Amino acid sequence: MRKISTKLAVSFTIAVFIMESILMIYLHDNIVDTRVTEEFQSLLSRGNSHRDVLEDTYSEGTLHHIALMESKTDTEVVITNTKKEIIASSKAPTKGMSNIIRDHTPAQLNRNGVLIESNWKEMNYLATVTEFSTGTEDGYVYMFKNTGPLRTLIDRLNMHFLLAGLSSLVILGLIHFLLSKIVTRPLVKMKEATEKLSNGEFAVKLPDLGNDELGKLSQSIQKLSNDLENIKRDRVEFLASISHELRTPLTYIQGYTNVALREDIQNSDRKEYLEIIQEESKMIVTLIENLFELAKIDENNFSISKEPIMIFPFLKKILLKVTPAFKSKNIELLFSCKSEHSINADPLRLEQIIINLLDNALKYSPPSTSTQILVKEQEEEVIISIHDQGVGIPEQEIPHLFNRLYRVEKSRSRELGGAGLGLSIVKELVEAHGGKVTIKSKENQGTCVEIRFKKGREV
Ligand SMILES: Nc1ncnc2c1ncn2[C@@H]1O[C@H](COP(=O)(O)OP(=O)(O)OP(=O)(O)O)[C@@H](O)[C@H]1O
Ligand SMILES: [Mg+2]
Repeated sequence: MRKISTKLAVSFTIAVFIMESILMIYLHDNIVDTRVTEEFQSLLSRGNSHRDVLEDTYSEGTLHHIALMESKTDTEVVITNTKKEIIASSKAPTKGMSNIIRDHTPAQLNRNGVLIESNWKEMNYLATVTEFSTGTEDGYVYMFKNTGPLRTLIDRLNMHFLLAGLSSLVILGLIHFLLSKIVTRPLVKMKEATEKLSNGEFAVKLPDLGNDELGKLSQSIQKLSNDLENIKRDRVEFLASISHELRTPLTYIQGYTNVALREDIQNSDRKEYLEIIQEESKMIVTLIENLFELAKIDENNFSISKEPIMIFPFLKKILLKVTPAFKSKNIELLFSCKSEHSINADPLRLEQIIINLLDNALKYSPPSTSTQILVKEQEEEVIISIHDQGVGIPEQEIPHLFNRLYRVEKSRSRELGGAGLGLSIVKELVEAHGGKVTIKSKENQGTCVEIRFKKGREV
């Protein structure tokens, strides 16, 4: 039994079959019982009413009348004296009737009559007997009913039950078919889709199956396949960018090495070339370090050890470190922060975040502007924002800034030594802290980067 629809249909069939059998047997027995009891009751009450008539007015006429009355119905009456000699009957007793009369022992009697033959399945007659006594005349009123019609009726009933049973089997077959259509086929489709996925074919298309569990499963698989396809595309793009990023400085290095190796150049020129080579190799090292950093974050292979940090002294220390660089470009650094703000963060990572953002502000701002670092609290959050008065970022570029190796203006950024990894590292780190980073920017006016962290517990 491999198919789930078969399993379902079989369990369903067994359950319904058991339920139906119990119900049918119960119903069948009940109907037959009631019917047979009704027959007995009516037979007994007819016998008893004949007895009443006989006891009231016993005469030849009455006997004849009773016999005549019964001959018009589907029951028979035989009236005998105490010696069981027939004194009146609705028809000449058949052999079966005579046997019943013969076998009946009067000791069984009571005044309201008794059943003397109830085996409707095998005997031709049901029979009751009622005793009568007028004072002078005593005897028995035997009532008979042919079991033929009753048997026919019950046979018909059995037939109906059989038909009902058969039609429920047909319905079960139909349910099996529907189950296989509704359950199995989508499952088979999904199985095929996942097999394709595991073979690296990510462009699978699954039908919309609505909103039930199967539909949800199908949607999840569809989403998985789309995600995988995106990842595949990103990976290809990423590899292409990386090789490009590495090739450029390496070409410089190669070129300048060749020139530096020439013997006919002046020492001062050679020094200049070697410095360029040094610069370019530094860039490659930084690039590789940053990539490595991101790879570690991707593998969840880096740890964040959070501790309470007082923002004011923490930022002050960093600003002290970067001030010379800003000064040399004549950019003013403004800092506004109340002393009580604190967050829970990993100090090394937080420093990396801030340095990266300050580095951007410095790189992408012209001289004689200012950069402002502002810290404030909003509800449960501490917001650190860095505003610069730099070149700004075109609005349509903002959503891509966190992509790896993404730079707004390739040549300019490269001149400044950027590889387009800083912001993606910032985003990963901030999110690893449970925080959020957003960028607002206007071209030629400036950029504002905001990072939000949960407020630290006051100790
Ligand atoms: N403050 C800013 N003002 C203007 N443009 C910015 C600013 N910050 C980032 N950008 C733009 O966003 C791009 C991506 O920034 P990101 O920090 O990720 O890379 P990068 O600075 O070029 O290189 P890296 O940070 O890896 O040295 C930059 O190339 C730059 O074009
Ligand atoms: Mg940067």
